[in-house]
Amino acid sequence: MRICNTIEDMRAASRAVRHAGKRLGFVPTMGALHEGHLSLARAAKASCDAVAASIFVNPAQFGPTEDLAKYPRNFERDRELLEKEGVELLFAPSVEEMYPAGAVTWVTVEGLSAKLDGRSRPGHFRGVTTVVAKLFHIVEPDAAFFGQKDAAQVAIIRRMAADLNFPVEIVACPIMREPDGLAMSSRNAYLDPQQRKQALLLHRSLFRANKLWEAGERDAAKIVATAQEEFAAEKSVRLDYFEIVDPDNLDPLDDVGNGALVAVAAFVGQTRLIDNLVLPKRSQ
Ligand code: PAF
Repeated sequence: MRICNTIEDMRAASRAVRHAGKRLGFVPTMGALHEGHLSLARAAKASCDAVAASIFVNPAQFGPTEDLAKYPRNFERDRELLEKEGVELLFAPSVEEMYPAGAVTWVTVEGLSAKLDGRSRPGHFRGVTTVVAKLFHIVEPDAAFFGQKDAAQVAIIRRMAADLNFPVEIVACPIMREPDGLAMSSRNAYLDPQQRKQALLLHRSLFRANKLWEAGERDAAKIVATAQEEFAAEKSVRLDYFEIVDPDNLDPLDDVGNGALVAVAAFVGQTRLIDNLVLPKRSQ
């Protein structure tokens, strides 16, 4: 695996791959890799001729009170995992390389960036879209792979890629879960054993929402109210939001009969976790 620390080196390496006529898949990450990330690398490998990944803990997407300094970092372990998955190119730039002094340009997807996590984490999605736009320009991939766990992020990146005419296919890969249902996340590492159990409420609330939907419930407000009651009963977990929205524009839905994204975010201790479920279209 070739490791590139500079933009110039990464661009040359990925261009060489594409000039050889190969379809290049790209998996952007912030490191602290788990099975979820590795499933993205596998999906990229399965549909592309070569795979590039990036490891960059992007300061621009962390708020002033968030966990940038304590975000888990283990480059050597991550590098080995990616190498085992057959990733050929790894872009691992410094903060100065990505954001040289004087940089003042941002990429913002208006509207969508202020919904769901964007409402609770002002500026977060502006940081994500800015770095992903830069990464797309540097790596110039044919396809980029993201986890469906970050459903709002996927919707926003799709919008950005369409609006700014990036010639890249955005591929969303299924949520990877622990055997008990907890969605895999680098932030799970912050949970102590008791919090780890409490965190299962996120998945339980989605499971319950799905059961209601299977039983014929189509009124979003009723499904949301049930989930809010479940969170109110569990004092150790603080609900941030439980919403039912259109998966593309993230607007709240009244009726879930036409396909819907059920998204939840909650704090377990100081750790903010997210999870979601997509309800398919089905006749009433
Ligand atoms: O999903 C993530 O890990 C990050 O938001 C991303 C897409 C790598 C941008 O920093």
